Amino acid sequence: MTGRSSIRGHVAIVTGGGAGIGLAVVERFASEGARVAVLDFDEGRGAAAAERARGLGAEALSIQADAGSRADAGRALSQVLSAWGKAEILVNCAGGFTFTDPLEELAEAEWDRIVAWNLKSAFLCAQQAAPAMKRAGYGRIVNISSQAGREGVLETSLPYSAAKAGILGLTRRLAVELAPSGVTVNAVAPGLVLSPRVAELHKDRLPQIYAQIPMRRAGEAAEIADAVWYLSTPGSAYITGVTLDVNGGRFMC
Ligand SMILES: NC(=O)c1ccc[n+]([C@@H]2O[C@H](COP(=O)([O-])OP(=O)(O)OC[C@H]3O[C@@H](n4cnc5c(N)ncnc54)[C@H](O)[C@@H]3O)[C@@H](O)[C@H]2O)c1
Repeated sequence: MTGRSSIRGHVAIVTGGGAGIGLAVVERFASEGARVAVLDFDEGRGAAAAERARGLGAEALSIQADAGSRADAGRALSQVLSAWGKAEILVNCAGGFTFTDPLEELAEAEWDRIVAWNLKSAFLCAQQAAPAMKRAGYGRIVNISSQAGREGVLETSLPYSAAKAGILGLTRRLAVELAPSGVTVNAVAPGLVLSPRVAELHKDRLPQIYAQIPMRRAGEAAEIADAVWYLSTPGSAYITGVTLDVNGGRFMC
């Protein structure tokens, strides 16, 4: 299949592609015939995700790297360019949090760690990939934010909420800068998705969370991947700087 909805043959980098939403994006891209580089700091998960992509008939590469490190982001881009000669789609999915410390107990190191994983990583990877996208004549950057970046949600981490709101500002500002070159930059803000990490984090309060969601259920990682896929296709060329909320109606803007 070719045309406005096809990313067949395109080269995509998915940070945090080893689990949860990132893994669903890897699978979706692979099933669409894209070539996929899985960047994850967990080597085993990244390798397993790349293997799943190959099982779906795609070319895939696993790169063990911290997306929040400039050196790692640069090395990852070099590996992609040596494998396939181009980079056209970047999904900044690396991130998450594990602690929800209140303000007065929050360590500075935890702030720095979470902001690096969730926000600085998107800047560093975009900085590496954008020149390649311009050379390729095709560019799509999709940044994964969160409902926690849209409104105050107590059950998430403070630096995480700040970083995910920062993703929205990064998305809009970068969208304006890259628009003349045809590279689009958009954000997807998921609500609750029961990845292994999040299922464990919220296991004692799921009924209360479901009660706040008009659809009364968590989203599937594949449902987030559907939105990411659309914003990666040729058909989304005139959409840039937007945030697409995928949350079962829990937050509307
Ligand atoms: N699950 C949810 O409910 C939810 C909701 C909103 C947003 N999100 C966002 O979606 C993204 C994926 O979360 P998830 O819960 O689906 O998956 P997850 O947390 O289960 O897995 C994330 C993967 O990313 C990797 N990773 C994390 N930081 C990294 C880094 N700096 N460099 C390289 N790899 C890194 C981890 O090793 C892991 O394999 C995150 O950005 C998260 O903030 C998740």
